[in-house]
Amino acid sequence: MRTLKDVHLNAAESRAAEPVARLWLPHAPWPKQQQFLNLFCKEAFYGGAAAGGKSEALLMAALMFAHVPGYAALILRKDTQRLQLSGGLIPRSHEWLANTPATWHAAERRWKFPTHAAPATLSFGYLQTSGDKYRYGSSEYQFIGFDELTEFVADDYLFLFSRLRKRTEIDVPLRMRSASNPGNVGHDWVLRRFITPAAIAAAGETAHDALAGKPVSNTFWCAGRAYVPARIRDNHAILESEYAESLSHLPPLFRERLLNGDWSVREQGLIAAGNLARYGVQGEYLQFIDEHGRSLGQVHERACWRIATCDPAGTSADRAKEQRGKPPCWTAIQVWDLAPDPWSRQMLLRHVERVRVDFAELCQLLRRVYLAWRPAAIYIEEEKLGRAAFDILSPYGLPIETISPRGKDKVVRASQLLTRLARCEVRLPREPLPWLADLESEWLRWTGLPEEVCDQIDAAAYAAMIAEEQNARRIVIQPFLSTNGV
Ligand SMILES: Nc1ncnc2c1ncn2[C@@H]1O[C@H](COP(=O)(O)OP(=O)(O)OP(=O)(O)O)[C@@H](O)[C@H]1O
Ligand SMILES: [Mg+2]
Repeated sequence: MRTLKDVHLNAAESRAAEPVARLWLPHAPWPKQQQFLNLFCKEAFYGGAAAGGKSEALLMAALMFAHVPGYAALILRKDTQRLQLSGGLIPRSHEWLANTPATWHAAERRWKFPTHAAPATLSFGYLQTSGDKYRYGSSEYQFIGFDELTEFVADDYLFLFSRLRKRTEIDVPLRMRSASNPGNVGHDWVLRRFITPAAIAAAGETAHDALAGKPVSNTFWCAGRAYVPARIRDNHAILESEYAESLSHLPPLFRERLLNGDWSVREQGLIAAGNLARYGVQGEYLQFIDEHGRSLGQVHERACWRIATCDPAGTSADRAKEQRGKPPCWTAIQVWDLAPDPWSRQMLLRHVERVRVDFAELCQLLRRVYLAWRPAAIYIEEEKLGRAAFDILSPYGLPIETISPRGKDKVVRASQLLTRLARCEVRLPREPLPWLADLESEWLRWTGLPEEVCDQIDAAAYAAMIAEEQNARRIVIQPFLSTNGV
């Protein structure tokens, strides 16, 4: 790698001298990344498939003028955890800059580059709540990069334009840059801002190809804004066929967005009605039924492993949310039968309670469900009231266990459920039981947005996690037998 001492160029020179972009980089940009780096318009977006090299291109773009005295760049993510995770942009910047003259200032999350006069800087920041944008209110940057732009709301993005400015002596272009997969809360506004019919028509592509992840190579222009579509195959560091195989296991909506960078698939709901498989009850037998109502096989209900899951509501946080006008939270309890071999991936929902109860009533309800259904274990969400319910009920012999919600992202939490649903491994009763219509309507409406009601998704997500662990336990690893029989 060339060192800082080798090069002192002004902005105009560096525009012509493309290798300057590589000054701090461990590897050269791929052609598609270079296409993004070559843009000197104010606003550009690199969007599309997962692993297309988007985040890497954003970091490269931020570093392009790190040799210019006084240059200030800022890279934002929704929260600091995502910046700091392994593979996140902060660790990545350390890999790139560790053996260079740049110095890391941890408290400010900032790299300083030793230029002649004022140091150039690259800072990392977050915009978790709507108030966070004012943290940047008194700063000025010549580069602002948003990674995973669709995680942000439009207001936060637009506000940061007020921070994009420079004193005349800093000879660099002002650049607002962003990168993202489709999806998330910001999907629609990002689509409207960058991937417009006018831009697509002007680039001579068909709207269908441009939106649906076909291999278009143009940069799209709309009102001076640029959109560079990212595809997995643009990133030669990733074996496309292997990664595509991994993504093929995702439910269709995620698959199309991440594999093909498809912006056109809509969030009609993450669960399609066609993926709701059915079972019938014949005495003590549970029959697996295909879409034409034909029986595919059956299991005795006592051969199944029965569990109950509970997503309790009613915490002070839930009540505060309701007071802010958000939809009320419900407690959901579900009883599941997990089928034995050869149906061991099938989960059958036997019973649902969805009620608004206080803590004492919750404990009574859990006891009632246990007595009626005798599950082998009741899993209750560890946060909220789960720990308290565990402490009260386990001394009475109730087989209650807590289960960790594993992060706040409900879609991530439900990923195993969604995968099983897409494979028709989650079965609902064929008979119109009283709780069924309400559950189906919640499941089919759910698009994964944070404020949506999804107690019945959460309870099922826990059941899918437990089923997954149970399936994994069945894979018995044969012990190594030594030849002397020990
Ligand atoms: N020019 C390059 N040379 C070598 N490796 C690269 C290059 N660009 C990206 N990579 C590597 O490819 C992998 C994926 O890149 P990156 O994280 O930038 O993709 P992404 O599009 O942001 O992915 P995601 O959609 O998951 O956020 C990373 O391991 C990265 O280091
Ligand atoms: Mg990325």
